[in-house]
Amino acid sequence: MGTKNNSDSTDSAGGGSNQMWGGRFAAAPDALMERINASIGFDKALYAQDIAGSVAHARMLGDVGILSDADVTAICDGLAGIRDEIEAGTFEFKTELEDIHMNIEARLTERIGDAAGRLHTARSRNDQVATDFRLWVRDAVDAADDALKALQTALIDQAEVHADWVMPGFTHLQAAQPVTAGHHLLAYVEMFGRDRSRFSDARARLNESPLGAGALAGTGFPIKRDMTATALGFDRPTANSLDSVSDRDFVLEYLAAAAICAGHLSRLGEELVIWSSAQFRFARLSDAFSTGSSMMPQKRNPDAAELIRGKTGRVLGAFVALSTVMKGLPLAYSKDMQEDKEPVFDAAEALMVCVAAATGMIADLTFDRERLAAAAGEGFTTATDLADWLVREAGVPFRESHHITGRVVALAEEKGCGLEDLALAELTAIDERISNAVFDVLGVDNSVRSRNSYGGTAPDNVRAQVISARERFLK
Ligand code: ARG
Repeated sequence: MGTKNNSDSTDSAGGGSNQMWGGRFAAAPDALMERINASIGFDKALYAQDIAGSVAHARMLGDVGILSDADVTAICDGLAGIRDEIEAGTFEFKTELEDIHMNIEARLTERIGDAAGRLHTARSRNDQVATDFRLWVRDAVDAADDALKALQTALIDQAEVHADWVMPGFTHLQAAQPVTAGHHLLAYVEMFGRDRSRFSDARARLNESPLGAGALAGTGFPIKRDMTATALGFDRPTANSLDSVSDRDFVLEYLAAAAICAGHLSRLGEELVIWSSAQFRFARLSDAFSTGSSMMPQKRNPDAAELIRGKTGRVLGAFVALSTVMKGLPLAYSKDMQEDKEPVFDAAEALMVCVAAATGMIADLTFDRERLAAAAGEGFTTATDLADWLVREAGVPFRESHHITGRVVALAEEKGCGLEDLALAELTAIDERISNAVFDVLGVDNSVRSRNSYGGTAPDNVRAQVISARERFLK
């Protein structure tokens, strides 16, 4: 690759020095220098933001009289033409021009001549890239919010349909107490709601404009930073020029929120894997979200759910990668910071495909009502209901009722039956305060119906929570 680059660079740079910053250089960079230095291979993804930033900057320079109206028009028209070329796929990206900023500026020079050279007045690539990247991350935050809202919609719709479908609730993946499927799904609605709120917090802090910070120290030109900030949809300009070009905490916040969200998605993916397994059979993924095995004809594999689980590593990895890049950098800009982009692009792509796939899988998911209800009663899941009944109906202290219930469970286990299958005589033999009325709470439906404390699993609660979740998250 080095050899290939060598000939490329010599040809296309014409054997001379860099046309953007080569004034003091006699020779062209080594091919390896170009290879380690160039970011155009990935930062071309910032072209739209770079052009928007340049248009705002040019208009502001016109407003303060640094550029003539004719120059501003030529620059803005030229940039619009370049955007069309990039979107049409006809723009030729050049490695020897390093990055998106210089590729666009060089092309602008080809298109409009001298005026292009005036665009970079009172600006550096350092504030330029910081601006572009903030705009990009802001879009990524907004896209994540929209996608998570769609996922919440699918979860809430399914929760409504399954408000009173009983299933086992687990702790330690051991059957614990019966819950409703709607309640279980709404748990994820809360998690993704907090993820959205983390993204929105990050957005509020990142929405300041670094443009005009210059290379690091600001500029002596009479620029109007408020004007460019407003034009780009920022709330205000950043307050400190050194900080503006040297921090990437806005990216780290996005990645931290993304990593936590990916962790939530991964847990949901894991549940789908478990629920759809032949051993559990709680739910069935649609054909659209299952894959077959090339060897075993009976298989329906939950690949998408597994990949949602698997892609968490990339997202968290991106956070770790960028925090490692940033630690220990002295102020202000260092080229290390060019390493900020690829992990984020990769993480954002992974996050978006995971949220979309989760949305599709949840929307299509079909639960097996009978299987869920049967499993809900396995493992003596209503034992707590019996213990609570003794407290409530017979005035037994909870510690004692816990002990009595333990003996009832041991008996049922010994007989190989459920709690509700024991005869009243067998129960009264353990404790004479137990009466026939106890059978009301030993069934799973009664169990879930009784758990109507705020936030509890009772079907009526779930129906109320569905309404409240739509109100809180989907307005
Ligand atoms: N491609 C560079 C980056 O992404 C742009 C800023 C370059 N600044 C500089 N002083 N070399 O970080």
